[in-house]
Amino acid sequence: MNENVIAVQELSKNFNLGKGKSISVLKNISFLACSNEFISIVGPSGSGKSTLLRCMSGLLNPTQGSVKLDAIDPYQLSPSKTAKMRRTKLGFIFQSYNLVPALPVFENVVLPLRLSGIKIDRPSVERLLKSLNFTAKLTSFVGTLSGGEQQKVAIARVLVTRARIIFADEPTGAVDAKAKEIIFDRLRKLADNGACVIMVTHDVDLAARTDRALVLKDGQLIKTLTNPDATEILAAIGKG
Ligand SMILES: Nc1ncnc2c1ncn2[C@@H]1O[C@H](COP(=O)(O)OP(=O)(O)O)[C@@H](O)[C@H]1O
Ligand SMILES: [Mg+2]
Repeated sequence: MNENVIAVQELSKNFNLGKGKSISVLKNISFLACSNEFISIVGPSGSGKSTLLRCMSGLLNPTQGSVKLDAIDPYQLSPSKTAKMRRTKLGFIFQSYNLVPALPVFENVVLPLRLSGIKIDRPSVERLLKSLNFTAKLTSFVGTLSGGEQQKVAIARVLVTRARIIFADEPTGAVDAKAKEIIFDRLRKLADNGACVIMVTHDVDLAARTDRALVLKDGQLIKTLTNPDATEILAAIGKG
């Protein structure tokens, strides 16, 4: 049985812009996501996709509404419990990678394992990076790598963990077509093996290969498409 692992209820997010002004970026969003599910979030630039992912994953407190991850509200936890939840259950692939530029590739990938005190097997990390078509040296500082290679490091950093809830913000935005397929297949496999994967993407063809596409427009969830096809998604975004 697929368990419900994410519950977003009537979530809204406003940002204060100072001088008494604020903007409303997410408006009353509700949905559920299960284990074994691969969900895409699509929508124009600025529609609130990254903000939704951050609110859903415990990184950014919503203005209204609630988020439950495995029935736990991450915003009600103490900082140490939130940190533990992030280490043990959640994986986040950031749009901007969020790597540590002063550390080499290898240390960036194994960072979550070091933080959890898990034994590190160097050959398996090497195999993982190779399987992602990573071509730079493991001793290179990540700050010196191309965007595509940095993106692969960010993905490997999640794949080394046992995260069961995975948030990926445009995880194929910087890589070539071959690496895109590899990354998509890895995320698909994680979902097939019981994870819940939420992927923001601009790539309509990739979104069409996920189980469900959530279509955002101006901060509203305007449509949920189950087993979507590319034409449907384009029509919903308003480009069809
Ligand atoms: N910290 C912030 N302060 C003010 N406005 C923000 C902030 N973060 C995002 N926004 C605004 O919220 C809107 C949605 O941004 P974002 O979630 O990044 O969209 P997307 O990922 O769909 O491109 C944009 O108008 C953006 O400028
Ligand atoms: Mg974004």
